[in-house]
Amino acid sequence: MILPSSLRGEVTVRHLSKTFTLNGEPLPVLKDLNLTIRSGESLAIVGASGSGKTTLLRILAGLEKADGGDVLIDGRRVRGVGTDRAVIFQEPRLLPWLTVIDNIGFGLETRGLSREDARYVAQRYVNLVGLKGFEAAYPRQLSGGMAQRVGIARALAVQPEILLLDEPLGALDAMTKIAMQQELARIWKDEDVTTVLVTHDLEEAIFLADRILILPREKGGEPRLIDIDLPRPRDRSAAAFVKQREELLGLFGLH
Ligand SMILES: Nc1ncnc2c1ncn2[C@@H]1O[C@H](COP(=O)(O)OP(=O)(O)OP(=O)(O)O)[C@@H](O)[C@H]1O
Ligand SMILES: [Mg+2]
Repeated sequence: MILPSSLRGEVTVRHLSKTFTLNGEPLPVLKDLNLTIRSGESLAIVGASGSGKTTLLRILAGLEKADGGDVLIDGRRVRGVGTDRAVIFQEPRLLPWLTVIDNIGFGLETRGLSREDARYVAQRYVNLVGLKGFEAAYPRQLSGGMAQRVGIARALAVQPEILLLDEPLGALDAMTKIAMQQELARIWKDEDVTTVLVTHDLEEAIFLADRILILPREKGGEPRLIDIDLPRPRDRSAAAFVKQREELLGLFGLH
């Protein structure tokens, strides 16, 4: 079944629940979560440490099984990992023996493209993430921000419908982080891919997301969804942006 692109990458989460066992005791993490992520939407997930952000992302990725409920992508139930989704973690996990271009093309080669064809496609993503001129570099020759850009390019090169990111910029210094946030905003606009971004940086969430899902700190609490109706490209110093940040900090009891 081939769907028009306007319908690709829609995620529906229905009555999702997940309980871990810790020291023999049940540890409920997600409880009856319901959510629809629109095709092409950028959703950020925030919440206290341990609130279940990574768990939710891993369930969406198919790396973790839920106990109850389900996840549908374009109406199809998720069962395990799939080529419709790409995941980016905090560290890019590049293959040290491959160059930048071959790291980016690696996923295409595993899908049957020749190295030459994979490199041809990978070049577009090298350009997209601003690494032109570094095609032949090895991971050890890159800065942290550059390595993470390779990771992003590698994830996008296989043209996923959904990009899942777990604190992708968490390990970067403040300056690089801001540059990369601008880069992510541009890439997201160019690629029109549904994006789910876990972050503990509220400003990053406001800068990038259409909506923010706040997972509750207390286990009995309810998740909240907040619309970020700010014009793009976003300006951190704009009054409306600052106001949004204040409101969000207020929800966390942080001001
Ligand atoms: N495999 C596991 N076995 C047992 N408990 C787990 C497992 N994975 C996660 N947990 C527990 O589930 C809860 C949620 O973990 P999760 O990693 O989703 O949190 P998080 O919101 O991503 O936190 P952080 O902001 O620190 O990354 C935590 O209390 C954690 O201890
Ligand atoms: Mg986490």
